[in-house]
Amino acid sequence: MDKPIGVIDSGVGGLTVASELMRQLPKEQLIYLGDTLRCPYGPRPKEEVIQYTWEMVDFLLKRDIKMLVVACNTATAYTLDQLRAELDIPVIGVIQPGARTAIKMSQNLRIGVIGTEGTINSKAYQKALKNINNKIRINDLACPRFVPMVEDGILTGEDAYHVVYETLKPLKDKNHIDTLILGCTHYPLLKDLIQDVMGTHVHIISSGEETAREVSTIMGYHKKLYNGERIPEHKFYTTGRLHVFDQIARNWLEQPDISAENVHIGQLSF
Ligand code: DGL
Repeated sequence: MDKPIGVIDSGVGGLTVASELMRQLPKEQLIYLGDTLRCPYGPRPKEEVIQYTWEMVDFLLKRDIKMLVVACNTATAYTLDQLRAELDIPVIGVIQPGARTAIKMSQNLRIGVIGTEGTINSKAYQKALKNINNKIRINDLACPRFVPMVEDGILTGEDAYHVVYETLKPLKDKNHIDTLILGCTHYPLLKDLIQDVMGTHVHIISSGEETAREVSTIMGYHKKLYNGERIPEHKFYTTGRLHVFDQIARNWLEQPDISAENVHIGQLSF
């Protein structure tokens, strides 16, 4: 089926999911929208995140997508159920796939979850993990400094390490988690630093891989996979600054010619 898959995030974080989609489904065409101008979503009230998410979804629906990937944990936590109820295309979020992978990896059933304030306060991971296995012990932690740092392109170096170290200290010191879920799609961009701070004995889980697998399964089931010979031309849109977006997209997706387009969505009142 020759229609694109829509991918949304509050900014560059969803690119970590897009890269897995490209790897696992190389024939599929993606349309990516990052609402960089209004990022971060994490500290915003639920109603605002719902409104902004719908504005992103409307933008992509006009481009005739065959499936929607909500590559943002905060938006998934607040909107997945209503998007699924109201849209007539399949909608995939990132929380369930991340929870499933963590359970698969953990040996001692002590799992850490880091995410935005919105995601952590929603308890969406707690629910998803406990639904699968209610013996699991969960320690969660909001990391509000990570997303602004990533959006500014600060992914390495001493200052970044210091922020990651100070933020994760409570999780590292007190608990014996063997698995840590990166419950925000921006965080895989800081994965090396997070692994350094937590130690090599902790499995770090990003939901991208499992999410892409789920997209593939569901599209196969709905007979929506593309199986022609077209070379996919992905499209990238951002509501914010092009420079940093392009730089991160080019590096992360290893495609030096990516050039996003700047768009306006909703009323952009914030
Ligand atoms: N990447 C997003 C997430 O997974 C959103 C981060 C934010 O905008 O605060 O939650």
